[in-house]
Amino acid sequence: MQIKKVGVIGAGQMGNGIAHVLSLGGYHVILNDIDKNTLEKASHNIKNNLERQVNSKKISAAESNAALKLIDYTVSLEDFNEVDLVIEAATENEPIKQKILNSLLTHIQPHTILTSNTSSISITRLASCTDRPEKFMGFHFMNPVPVMQLVELIKGIATDQETYDSCLQVVEKLGKTAASAEDFPAFIVNRVLMPMINEAVYALYEGVGSVEAIDTSMKLGANHPMGPLELADFIGLDTCLAIMNVLHEGLADTKYRPCPLMTKYVEAGWLGRKTKRGFYDYTGEQQIPSR
Ligand code: 3HC
Repeated sequence: MQIKKVGVIGAGQMGNGIAHVLSLGGYHVILNDIDKNTLEKASHNIKNNLERQVNSKKISAAESNAALKLIDYTVSLEDFNEVDLVIEAATENEPIKQKILNSLLTHIQPHTILTSNTSSISITRLASCTDRPEKFMGFHFMNPVPVMQLVELIKGIATDQETYDSCLQVVEKLGKTAASAEDFPAFIVNRVLMPMINEAVYALYEGVGSVEAIDTSMKLGANHPMGPLELADFIGLDTCLAIMNVLHEGLADTKYRPCPLMTKYVEAGWLGRKTKRGFYDYTGEQQIPSR
């Protein structure tokens, strides 16, 4: 199936990045959010991020302008009546995702493929609350979407090959690389990455090292572009905790127990960069450890 028009649900950090790369790939994008302010912020972020790419000569000004013209913003799912593909990128909360998918069904065409950018939730379970489990799959981008090369593609138990092939074609048209993952909790990237981040939080909790020592160790000792605590702040501690909980519950193994310190930070509303405080404080010119 030829995909031309894509609906993206959720204009947060993942949703606006997804709209950005789809529009650069030549797709007409309808970006939806329930909150008008989030849509305005998304439009501003997309412009800024395209400008960064123009400034570093990754794309031309003409390509950036063409991409901007291909994105429409809406608070109403009724505007999804002509989309060929939907990518749901709302918050990492299963009841919310199910509610969104349910409310979407009356507005889309019978041929429309439904996907979720979920970082951990069962694709088979999400698919089962739609009217088209064979046309449902996981379409998982990495953050920051315009920079990261990988997209994980996850088939649910009922997903058909045609749906998978259509999504693979989109990934290829975006110039990204797909990795196929089976539908087990947190798939591949987060199955490996999140326990590492969780372990770094345990190392902090147990006093093995300071925030700076832990991050410096992993940056200079393992050549990671960001230390694990800095990366947790970048992803969002609420998202990291939600993924650890899915691993813990889904695999029933104590090795995935979320660190109590991570839970405490989330309870405090210290969610990382997006709230300007997590393992680091981002209110000043330079990030400094928050405790
Ligand atoms: N849009 C467009 N361009 C962007 C961008 C964005 N949002 N963010 C960064 N860039 C560009 C910059 O403009 C810069 O371009 P240039 O090299 O041409 O000048 C380049 O990317 C590098 O950025 P910076 O110079 O600002 O900073 P860094 O060199 O420190 O790189 C980083 C930033 C790319 C974020 C790097 O630190 C990194 O790779 N970090 C790890 C990210 C990671 O692991 N992501 C995966 C998280 S897991 C996930 O997403 C799964 C989810 O389910 C939780």
